[in-house]
Amino acid sequence: MISQKLFEELNKQINYELYSAHLYLAMAAYCASQDLDGFTNFFKVQAEEEKFHAMKLFDYVNEMDGTVKLDGLDIPQNEYPTILDVFKSAYEHEKFVTSRIYFLSDIAMEEREHATISMLKWYIDEQVEEESTFSSIIKKLERIKDDSNVLYMLDKEFAQRSFTPPNEV
Ligand code: FEO
Repeated sequence: MISQKLFEELNKQINYELYSAHLYLAMAAYCASQDLDGFTNFFKVQAEEEKFHAMKLFDYVNEMDGTVKLDGLDIPQNEYPTILDVFKSAYEHEKFVTSRIYFLSDIAMEEREHATISMLKWYIDEQVEEESTFSSIIKKLERIKDDSNVLYMLDKEFAQRSFTPPNEV
């Protein structure tokens, strides 16, 4: 049985995931302002993924007879000095989300809430992927520095990204 405390934290997580979508849309807007259409697409797709993360938790809370309660969203950072700073901020944000998922897992383990432990396992794996994606793009951007040709090649590559709902476990 899920405790009130765990339901509250799961609700908070729905909001954090929705905020992630909001933040990535702000990053998409920044990229669009720099005429980087592929990077814009990258963050729009990232925002879709975050909405998926939120809705998976939304459905889980309902399925477990909890009540979803949404909160307001903070204003995201809209301006960035460079595209590299965008990815550094995104990476820091993902590390924060990972710490939240671990925190939720710790509570679920304390409560021996096995269904929730199992559900959260999907998010733990997803976070490994998310952190790795951002960290590898940061390395690429650091390597190319001011080479605009390579930046536009990367932009072209990101234009191909599309949202595919991850397989359910
Ligand atoms: Fe839903 Fe990118 O963490």
